[in-house]
Amino acid sequence: MSISHPEPKVKGPMGFLASLGMTKILFWFARRFIAGQTLEEALIVLRKLKAKGFATTIDHLGENVTNALEAKAATDDYIEIINAIKKNSLDNNISVKLTQIGLDINRDLCLENLKRITEAAREINGFVRVDIEGSKYASTTFEMVREIRALGLPVGVAIQAMLRRTPSDMVTLLESGITMRLCKGAYKEPVDIAYQKKDEVDRQYVALVKRLLTSGSFHGIATHDEKIIAETKAFVKERQIKRDKFEFQMLLGIRPALQEQLVANGWKLRVYVPYGRAWLPYVIRRLRERKENVWFVVKNLFRK
Ligand code: FDA
Repeated sequence: MSISHPEPKVKGPMGFLASLGMTKILFWFARRFIAGQTLEEALIVLRKLKAKGFATTIDHLGENVTNALEAKAATDDYIEIINAIKKNSLDNNISVKLTQIGLDINRDLCLENLKRITEAAREINGFVRVDIEGSKYASTTFEMVREIRALGLPVGVAIQAMLRRTPSDMVTLLESGITMRLCKGAYKEPVDIAYQKKDEVDRQYVALVKRLLTSGSFHGIATHDEKIIAETKAFVKERQIKRDKFEFQMLLGIRPALQEQLVANGWKLRVYVPYGRAWLPYVIRRLRERKENVWFVVKNLFRK
């Protein structure tokens, strides 16, 4: 796998480290979390996961593009991914970020790009999950997903348990018949907008899981938190909810043994498979999530 050196557009201490020429070390760390830099590499990973009984969703890394040409190129890339998935008979589920297809530039342009991607997904009987980014994008993201869904196109959205607004967003999204991926939230947010403590986020997460699982529609429970997974399983058992009415979801490279165990025990699990050259912001988020990860990188920096 050759190393490309994306421009670090990441703020804060990790961005500073990245700008100090740490890209090589970060990429070495990143390899655990990404399927590679090219579509071919990603297809190999998708194939392996499929053979092991995992469902997958593929994400072409990239976010916050600043001009219409880049947004179009990212959209074209997704169409290429959809065609490749079809050709290779792989899981027809893709994940996309709206800032990658123009949300920072122009709402209509972004909506048009999302429409193109979801129309292409419909052609292969596929599904597009819109990732959720920083809270300033939340309202527009949900509005756009609702607009695309109203056209009958196959789209759903991720939501973040850490945000105080999420219970109310969930009600509106359920009313619009939109399927959700519930995650904790990976972006740094101020205290008036988001819970900061793990136990607060976890409490809201579990409450939201229960609402999703009793909603009568299919949703994704995206976490690697064993305690929450155990509570979800207990709730499913208590309410006699069938296992095919929801799925667990996890990120490539995080808790792989737990992923295998869930599948071996007959639970549906979807693995989020990111790939691409713009891997830095994604990997920085994975680093920030766990201080052990930061230590791992720092230790290896001094081992050189
Ligand atoms: P938590 O952070 O409490 O971790 C539980 C355990 O998981 C840890 O103890 C550790 O064992 C393991 N773990 C978690 N993160 C790790 C890491 N980085 N490295 C090593 N081990 C780790 N976020 C978002 O804002 N928008 C989105 O669209 C998405 N999409 C998404 C899709 C899928 C399929 C998943 C699983 C997650 C997301 N996320 C996301 C990320 C999510 O918001 C959250 O940041 C991470 O999943 C980590 O939270 P956990 O639920 O795993 O809990």
